[in-house]
Amino acid sequence: MGIVGNLRPDQLEFFNSRGYLVVESFASTEQIGALRKRIHHLLDKFDCSTASIFSTKNQQQLTDDYFYESAENISFFFEEKAFGDDGNLKQSKELSINKVGHALHEFDPVFKEFSSSGKFSSTLFSLGYKRPVVIQSMYIFKQPGIGGEVVPHQDNSFIYTEPASCVGLWLALEDATVTNGCLWAIPGSQKKGLVRRFIRGEEGVSFDKLSPCYDQKEFVPIEVKAGSLVVLHGDLIHQSFENQSPKSRHAYSLHVVETDGCKWAKENWIRRKVEPEPLYES
Ligand code: FE2
Repeated sequence: MGIVGNLRPDQLEFFNSRGYLVVESFASTEQIGALRKRIHHLLDKFDCSTASIFSTKNQQQLTDDYFYESAENISFFFEEKAFGDDGNLKQSKELSINKVGHALHEFDPVFKEFSSSGKFSSTLFSLGYKRPVVIQSMYIFKQPGIGGEVVPHQDNSFIYTEPASCVGLWLALEDATVTNGCLWAIPGSQKKGLVRRFIRGEEGVSFDKLSPCYDQKEFVPIEVKAGSLVVLHGDLIHQSFENQSPKSRHAYSLHVVETDGCKWAKENWIRRKVEPEPLYES
């Protein structure tokens, strides 16, 4: 007997028309606490000397091998504004990290167990996935005062299959509001298809086209309570602003692709030496 999908018809209809969906109370307070405790433990063990700065604005930095290797590792990326002019951190290590990625779901037992849960697979089967595979995971901190912006993009640009199949599962671990840098999206923008791709070539990574200019008035905020899951269509235009507030905005996100009938693009930045392990069985 296969897993029955957990999304209601009205939720699927909302997702299909708007390109995103909020599932409230997806994770319990205990589950959130366990993930936050675990990331704190991983941060505690992290040696700052292996640091790399991640910025979606400065693609040159993405050519760093540290970034490529993070596809199969638990790697730590600093906020761009974490450092002072002297090159030293302006605040504690715990308040300086932008994100941890991109394979927590595979190599950390706590994140792996949570990411393997039937709730995720049920959501994916509801959306029509047959053999979904998590291709990347990120713990995002959106640190108080310095949490960097994420410019408008589509996840299919970075995680491409033929045909396109990426879906984002973004779990709020703290309340996300317009004040602390919640997600914003253009409802229905997924219907216009993929605008551009992020290609890894001989010379590093780059986009194959310039970004269109988006009208900020078209974006709507997706404010959610801690424990809510935001499901994001791979072609949905979304972004988040810098967190200038004194409150962090932690989130855990998974990006999933279909492996049944969809082919992984070799130009993607993620190049696995070992095939990702399927976490869900239908
Ligand atoms: Fe995204």
